[in-house]
Amino acid sequence: TVLIIDFGSQVTQLIARRVRESGVYSEIVPFTDAEDAVTRMKPSAIILSGGPASTHEAGTPRAPEAVFSAGVPVLGICYGQQTMVAQMGGAVSGSDHREFGRAEIMLRKPSPLFEGLGDPGSSLQVWMSHGDRVDSLPPGFEVIASTPGAPFAAIADESRQLYGVQFHPEVVHTPQGAAMLRNFTHEIAGCKGGWTMARFRDTAIERIREQVGDGRVVCGLSGGVDSAVTAVLIHEAIGEQLTCIFVDHGLLRAGEAEQVVTLFRDSYNIPLVHAEAAPQFLAALEGVSDPEQKRKIIGGLFIDVFEAEAKRIGGADFLAQGTLYPDVIESVSFTGGPSVTIKSHHNVGGLPERMNMKLLEPLRELFKDEVRELGRELGLPDGFLRRHPFPGPGLAIRIPGAVTPDKLEILRKADRIYLEEIEKAGLYDDIWQAFAVLLPVRTVGVMGDARSYDYVCALRAVTSTDGMTADYFPFSHDFLGRAATRIINEVRGINRVVYDVTSKPPGTIEWE
Ligand code: XMP
Repeated sequence: TVLIIDFGSQVTQLIARRVRESGVYSEIVPFTDAEDAVTRMKPSAIILSGGPASTHEAGTPRAPEAVFSAGVPVLGICYGQQTMVAQMGGAVSGSDHREFGRAEIMLRKPSPLFEGLGDPGSSLQVWMSHGDRVDSLPPGFEVIASTPGAPFAAIADESRQLYGVQFHPEVVHTPQGAAMLRNFTHEIAGCKGGWTMARFRDTAIERIREQVGDGRVVCGLSGGVDSAVTAVLIHEAIGEQLTCIFVDHGLLRAGEAEQVVTLFRDSYNIPLVHAEAAPQFLAALEGVSDPEQKRKIIGGLFIDVFEAEAKRIGGADFLAQGTLYPDVIESVSFTGGPSVTIKSHHNVGGLPERMNMKLLEPLRELFKDEVRELGRELGLPDGFLRRHPFPGPGLAIRIPGAVTPDKLEILRKADRIYLEEIEKAGLYDDIWQAFAVLLPVRTVGVMGDARSYDYVCALRAVTSTDGMTADYFPFSHDFLGRAATRIINEVRGINRVVYDVTSKPPGTIEWE
């Protein structure tokens, strides 16, 4: 295991992903828990992340002594490098010369960190983002690479296997960064790289068997990838001790509910309760137009229906959830107070306590792309695994204003055409999420010789890596024209189509 100590950088998760991609398991721990983690995990290498603090200010975070006395290789990145230098007797200063963006480092000395990447005298492109910089090195260290603005761009004490880089090897803008991290874990720390999804699957299955014993498990299916992979994995581990509950709130896309039911009942033979609760949800949503109100109603009713179905099948000891690693990592925050709720996300929060169930979360160590890989390993169809994320409250938050059956019908048709066109153009996999929104606005149009007065449909498509930030997708005008024409011609009730060109921030991906 490689232990990554988080000092609050925006990109700490990327370090973990790069390390795992090289076949080495890694875990992120906030600096406050680092001491315990070193003892508990006995890591074969330690990486100190970047962070927003400044080492020459009092009270800023430090790496615990245990990191340097563990006798394993340590790599400090950006703030991690600075605190290592400061803690070992070197000096760091705040410089006026901030450095952001692309830079070229020149290799100065042969080092296993740069194995296979070039000889001394050659240069490599890297991504810099820092204000402070190292001024003088602790005893035993030497410079292994530099830039004109950063004479200590990469430093090493080869005898103690301590390394520091001022740039960020974990981001894609450092093209050889993954190779450097691989050199660190494989060449320097001697990790073997046998961490694969096939191995993960086997150990996960064993752990589930151990944890569950002969208990009973319920798993809520949403139609999404995470809950599907969770269910199939658990089914492999404990078979019929698992029952899936699919609360069909009637707010799914065209054809989705059928797909879920067929996949689980017919292909996997997993016991599945299909709770067809659309009328209940629609009745509860009638006349409600406030977005938060809608979310709360759907979330609450979802739990009620789920609980009733779980009781009907005789209850369970465990509730399985498709929680992923990004939801688990305790992010290091320097702002103190709780962060603002932008939208209340819908999940089955509160249910385990209410029903006295324990939680079973077999994916809590995985990133999204790793979940897809595990799904492939478990034989889930590719068409299912590459699906775009879909929000729990479903189409209800894509119909601003009150939700009605008619509007749901109109939106489903428009959305289906839009996605068909995206698939036809071969763009589906380039897009993080694409969907139609039905606006509560009617405009005048002319169709044939008659006046029309119908709804506006907004199309949304974004690129993103984690849903936290996003850019609108740059469709060609040709594509947009084609999609708009088809929607207006084929969907009664829509006579105008617009494209949303807002990025996130300041917009959010969904409209509500
Ligand atoms: P926003 O709209 O906040 O969305 O930019 C970010 C990502 O989260 C999804 N989303 C949800 N997912 N329950 C979910 O499971 C929700 O209540 C919810 N709201 C938004 C959204 O589709 C996007 O992928």
